[in-house]
Amino acid sequence: MGENRTSDLLAWYDANRRILPWREDPTPYHVWLSEIMLQQTRVEAVKGYYSRFLEVLPDIRSLAEADEDTCTKLWEGLGYYSRVRNLHKAAQQVMENYGGSLPRTVAELKLLAGIGDYTATAIASIAFSEPVAAIDGNLLRVFSRQTGYSEDIKAGAAKKAAKKYFDTWISQDRPGAWNQALMDLGATVCLPNGKPLCDGCPLQSTCVAHAKGLEEELPVSVKKVHRPVEEKTVFILHNENGVVLHRRPESGLLAGLYEFPNTAGTLAPQDAIVFAEKMGFQVQDIGGSRKAKHVFSHREWHMTGYDMTVEALDVGTDDLIAASFEELDSRYSVPSAFAAFREFLGEGLSGPAD
Ligand code: ADE
Repeated sequence: MGENRTSDLLAWYDANRRILPWREDPTPYHVWLSEIMLQQTRVEAVKGYYSRFLEVLPDIRSLAEADEDTCTKLWEGLGYYSRVRNLHKAAQQVMENYGGSLPRTVAELKLLAGIGDYTATAIASIAFSEPVAAIDGNLLRVFSRQTGYSEDIKAGAAKKAAKKYFDTWISQDRPGAWNQALMDLGATVCLPNGKPLCDGCPLQSTCVAHAKGLEEELPVSVKKVHRPVEEKTVFILHNENGVVLHRRPESGLLAGLYEFPNTAGTLAPQDAIVFAEKMGFQVQDIGGSRKAKHVFSHREWHMTGYDMTVEALDVGTDDLIAASFEELDSRYSVPSAFAAFREFLGEGLSGPAD
């Protein structure tokens, strides 16, 4: 291999690059169209669409002047149709604002419909030789493995770190080839899910993951869990003697722990008073309310808590407990989900238990 990794990478690209129609004649329009089509879509699926689209709409002017149905028809089956609506709109913007030629800078490209960070940098580098890294999923994976980056690869911070890393490395002479070399490396060598093909990798000698045997551990991808949100109204019913608690069921979430009485949904103050009265309490005063959120592994509580001074704490209901402040501290375990509402009970109470 050569004396530096930039020339190693470019030499590898020249010998191994995928032959793709949009690479044969990379005019700004061709690059733009291909990059939009390739979003969320496999290279193999795009090839035929790309050629058919150009047969009917060979340049930016013809695209701008086409009717929307023609454009959509050419996209039929590719999915994510907002891409073609934006493409059409952007072509009209280019005709009106740039005399029919795509602007060259990342900042101006991003002003066009449907062009974000990735597409703007891909067009600027491939069509206009601007040395800007185009960070897609392939580059993120290569970044993570090259540097040993082990934070969540889907987070914004990862993209920022990868951008910084690659922007300082990118080939000044052939930035478009360099970006596409990394894309191809990610697609054919530095593979996701399972063993990458490190023996054929031009960047093996600088790869932290390879040196440490972490190729299959990186990148780290934290799965986004879908958590249902439960709205709750929480009643902090208290007087100078103590506060009302409720024991949670013996099974399920926070089983057997104690909570401030609460009900599903978000009640307005007047409705909260009515609800407290139905539980048997005489509300003398609402001192205030506050909102609190608690995130569990599989759900979120979005709570509105009311600070209610009541006449008597013990209303003779088996479910509810009149706890002195001393008992609240030493005897009853109230989970941290309710911690925010302890402020209604004054200073000097110890922290929450879990
Ligand atoms: N995926 C998105 N853009 C690409 C490109 N220019 N080459 C290869 N794969 C890509």
